Amino acid sequence: MSSSQSKATLDTIIALCKRRGLVYQSAEIYGGINGIYDFGHLGHLIKENIRTAWKKSIKKIDGDILFLEGALLGPHAVWQASGHVENFHDPMVDCLQCKKRYRADEINLQKACPACGKIAWTEVRQFNMMFKTELGATADHSSIAYLRPETAQSIFINFKNIISSNRVKIPFGIAQIGKAFRNEITPKQFLFRMREFEQMELEWFCTQQDVETYFSLWLDMRRDFYMSVGINDKHIRLRKHESNELAHYSTQCTDVEYEFPFGWKELEGIAHRGNFDLTQHSKHSGKELAVFDEETKKTYMPQVIECSVGVDRLFITLLFDAYNEDELGGEKRTVLKLHPHIAPIKAAFLPLTKKLSEPMHRIYKKIQNNVAYEIEFDQSGSIGKRYRRHDEIGTPVCFTYDFDSEQDNCVTARNRDTLKQERVSIDHIEQYLFDLLR
Ligand code: GAP
Repeated sequence: MSSSQSKATLDTIIALCKRRGLVYQSAEIYGGINGIYDFGHLGHLIKENIRTAWKKSIKKIDGDILFLEGALLGPHAVWQASGHVENFHDPMVDCLQCKKRYRADEINLQKACPACGKIAWTEVRQFNMMFKTELGATADHSSIAYLRPETAQSIFINFKNIISSNRVKIPFGIAQIGKAFRNEITPKQFLFRMREFEQMELEWFCTQQDVETYFSLWLDMRRDFYMSVGINDKHIRLRKHESNELAHYSTQCTDVEYEFPFGWKELEGIAHRGNFDLTQHSKHSGKELAVFDEETKKTYMPQVIECSVGVDRLFITLLFDAYNEDELGGEKRTVLKLHPHIAPIKAAFLPLTKKLSEPMHRIYKKIQNNVAYEIEFDQSGSIGKRYRRHDEIGTPVCFTYDFDSEQDNCVTARNRDTLKQERVSIDHIEQYLFDLLR
């Protein structure tokens, strides 16, 4: 085997996702819809594993973490208070000649349109990225609603409900995984910039006194998380925002950046939101959102540190980082060296020939009934083809039942990364997998 190396380009990843059914363009049979994707079986399993790993990682903090599942639609009042109606926009410009639309901050307006080669720009306009809709039949201001552009606001508007119905004390966190929607002017780079995507957001509530300590603690914890899901440390860096980059709600922000084939880009944002959101919602709703401090007997607005990452953006990051090509027996092999916790299928159960299907299927069924993770039985095609398929979807181990298995009660375990093969007792397969996933 020649040494493996990552050669992932955007095109190779898109092709792999389609070939193996991880991701499909939404409404493809109708020509597709820009910036919106559907996830197939393996894609769904990887997303589930990402969510589980993220939940586990944030619970490592010393303090309570509560979860919320907020609604996707929010009334105008929420987004007015949060500042999104006024501030959540990107600068947009059109080419008068070919009518192509661009984000004005991503194009040099001194130069010609990349599509038609003419210089004929419109004025730069601000384009609000929220999807707007109307609730019910009356079209007045109170019926306007928006699909949420971030999950965070449902945490802030439920803050009072949450603290009065749970026994939590500051510092503590409220976390949420769910869909967010942005009418991006130019969705691009596949899952990197989408119009419908999923966020994993944590709002950590603490006192003013503790905010700096927690900010640096979260920076460390979030960086550790990316190592723990197998991302190469060399491809990750932290970058502090300049003051002119800060969102309208934050006073300090550091991005976790990943080195994509198209450059260093934001993977996660870690922001100090101060008490901006709670203060705004308190003002606009007229409801008291401050908390009472038993020690000082005073009320105060907690400070918020936010850690926010997209499930889909992390999904594509993990694929880029895990993608490798090497040569095996004179043939090109594509292998996804995904961390076992992220791999969609943890083990494949392969009878060497169809004649051996029955005993291997029995072993597979027995183990499948005992474990909570996904394993697969696969009997179609040559053994080499089946190995290749499992390498390409990142299955860490393949067990093969062969003609010796009847006699020695063992199967051959083949490791995806080292290609090492060893005999494992059938009675120890579960323990073998337990050790692999520990
Ligand atoms: N609540 C803060 C917030 O939404 P953001 O930097 O706009 O901050 C946070 O988004 C994360 O959500 C990003 O770091 C990225 O991982 C993900 N994200 C944002 N916009 C996205 C898009 N259009 N497509 C995919 N993921 C996106």
